[in-house]
Amino acid sequence: MSNISMMELSKELDEQFDRLVTECRASGEIDQELYTEYDVKRGLRDANGKGVLTGLTEISDVCSYKSVEGKKMPADGELYFQGYNVKDLIDGFENRRYGFEESTYLLLFGRLPTPKQLRSFVRIVKSLQELSGQFVRDVVMKATSQNQMNALQRCILTLYCYDSNPDEVSVPNVLRQSLQLIAKMPLIAVYSYCAWRHFHADETLVIRLPDKEMSIAENILQMLRPDGKFTELEAKVLDVALVLHAEHGGGNNSTFTNHVVTSSGTDTYSATAASIASLKGPRHGGANLKVQQMFADIRKCCPDYEDEAALTAYLEGVLDKKVFDRSGLIYGMGHAVYTLSDPREVILKSYARRLSEEKGLTREYQLYERVERLAGEAIARKRHLFKPICANVDFYSGLVYSMLGIPEELYTPIFAIARISGWSAHRLEEVVNNGKIIRPAYKYVGEHRDYCDLDEREGE
Ligand code: COA
Repeated sequence: MSNISMMELSKELDEQFDRLVTECRASGEIDQELYTEYDVKRGLRDANGKGVLTGLTEISDVCSYKSVEGKKMPADGELYFQGYNVKDLIDGFENRRYGFEESTYLLLFGRLPTPKQLRSFVRIVKSLQELSGQFVRDVVMKATSQNQMNALQRCILTLYCYDSNPDEVSVPNVLRQSLQLIAKMPLIAVYSYCAWRHFHADETLVIRLPDKEMSIAENILQMLRPDGKFTELEAKVLDVALVLHAEHGGGNNSTFTNHVVTSSGTDTYSATAASIASLKGPRHGGANLKVQQMFADIRKCCPDYEDEAALTAYLEGVLDKKVFDRSGLIYGMGHAVYTLSDPREVILKSYARRLSEEKGLTREYQLYERVERLAGEAIARKRHLFKPICANVDFYSGLVYSMLGIPEELYTPIFAIARISGWSAHRLEEVVNNGKIIRPAYKYVGEHRDYCDLDEREGE
């Protein structure tokens, strides 16, 4: 029943509300055939599921097909940041601690930094990596939220009030605000989570300051852990995860959202909050949390991890909307662009395996691998697919975070902490190119009606 009954409204008002719900449903329904008749690009896709071209970017390239004898064929996915294959970037960062900071520099300024440029950039970010006691006390600690994406969004919107020049949409001002957000978001996310645990789970509240000698990945672990300690592999894995989540083209839902709102001329805090709203959705960044919840359910329903028939039956139950959240989606599977593989998933999976060996959790890792294979087969059997289906970046990220001791509530905020680099680069690209306001068309398919006076209307 509706929340309204919780507000202790009378039974009569409850019935009125139920009637309004029915009318709302009926009024919102559109004949599905009209979408075909008017050739509507639903989800901004063409009839083959390909995204319609709505912009140009030099920030990143998401590749999923190759040309074989003039024919377009599905291929293993590749992701390029400013022309560099992200796999090469991660291999290149192997012995360095600031992979995420280096990638952020690349995304924002279009080139790989020299050692001096990187040092100076890291210094700038570190200088901004603080939150005033007043902000922590008056904003982060107040009205704590069970969902940390909403908490993050609220805090970022409130940063507007602490900015002496919040509305100017010029390159220097937007860059300044972007760097501040990149530096501050890890603190806001960790502190919001700690405050919520304190007020709702009676945990002791510890606010650890960032260590100015540490990278962003190291600081997230340091600030989260009661003893502030972590291993080199743990910090490396989190740094790689941040790089892999930092950017993904202009068409992904949260980045496109940023383009849309930026094109209206709004401020950086509003644009970022809008992107966070989008990323929270379970079909986008929120999928990493859903994957973890789905696996918790799998462990309960299929205690024998090796029983492939039981796992398949469970996955088919998900697709038939009979089990788990009844959405019909196997989270962590599928992608709007990738076909044979998502390169971010491939890389994260290799780190998940390494970490599971270090932590004695290989049985758990093998369950994920098995479900990945069986889910791909089940979706192919049960759905109308435009292209091959593969696991996406969210499939293993939750497993990785859980092995790093990161609480589930922070899975999607970690995605946001990384993706702020990409959102900022795209917002700046939109500002630099002074794009037209984004305004696609919606066709009206209702009818025009004559106004009727209140007293003359019929019905209950
Ligand atoms: N579970 C069940 N069905 C799926 C699916 C999944 N994980 N992924 C795709 N499908 C279905 C689609 O619903 C669609 O069916 P329909 O034609 O009957 O509507 C069909 O397969 C083709 O989908 P496709 O065009 O390849 O994907 P999309 O662009 O519509 O959706 C996602 C892409 C990512 C939204 C979708 O794969 C999804 O919801 N995945 C689960 C959530 C997730 O992991 N999101 C993180 C993305 S990084």
